Amino acid sequence: MKSDTINISGLNTAALPSHIAVIMDGNGRWAQKKFLNRVKGHEKGSDTVRMVVRSCREIGISFLTLYAFSTENWQRPKAEVSALMVLLKKFLVSERQEMVVNNIRFNVIGEKERLPRDVQEEIQRTKDATKNNDGMNLNLALSYGARSEIVKAAREIAEEVQAGRLPVDAITEDTITRHLYTADIPDPELLIRTSGEMRISNFLLWQIAYTEIAVTDTLWPDFTRNELIQILMEYQGRSRRFGRV
Ligand code: IPE
Ligand code: IPE
Ligand code: MG
Repeated sequence: MKSDTINISGLNTAALPSHIAVIMDGNGRWAQKKFLNRVKGHEKGSDTVRMVVRSCREIGISFLTLYAFSTENWQRPKAEVSALMVLLKKFLVSERQEMVVNNIRFNVIGEKERLPRDVQEEIQRTKDATKNNDGMNLNLALSYGARSEIVKAAREIAEEVQAGRLPVDAITEDTITRHLYTADIPDPELLIRTSGEMRISNFLLWQIAYTEIAVTDTLWPDFTRNELIQILMEYQGRSRRFGRV
């Protein structure tokens, strides 16, 4: 048996998280360790994305949100940003058919309008091709920043107030939730970050208020299906108290 095959029957299928969010970090360091260009790390990382999407679909996860490019990542060298955009476009084209076949519904959260026009077009094609699917929702966070998402929500809510459609004291937590990119998605029960960094890096700040966090030292290109399942098992052993006793 290949070392990467593990029996998923050890998982309690009744207690799986419905939404997993992932900060896919460590591509650059993976490449540097091998004296390769950082872009090689992103290429290898996109293979891991494919594997994680397949695995989550198989395991029976309903929502998977992957942090692929942050608003801060625009500040990286131009060549790296361009290479990431090319890879992203390739991914959208090459995975579209598999998403259709595997009943995966694709969506993007983030400032789509800042992405190159050709990438925006491939995003739209993929969304259209998968819009009737209901097996798993795959959300790619692209040009995503949680603070700018909250600003966007605040502006939209302020407009409703100004227009007289929303009384100030009718604003609740639910109002804010409904104005985020993730309006129709439950909060993630589990957030995974690879490469050992103990930080959130402006990802889903509102949505992770009570999310369980799992950090692994593994660099994203080395992350395996086995490790995903191990993290899920560890998650299932945790006691989530939500502030109660
Ligand atoms: C994550 O890997 C991918 C993106 C942020 C686009 P990094 O590129 O951040 O890799 P490290 O953290 O430099 O190793
Ligand atoms: C977070 O990783 C963003 C993505 C994984 C897309 P970064 O590498 O950009 O975050 P920092 O710089 O370690 O906080
Ligand atoms: Mg990083």
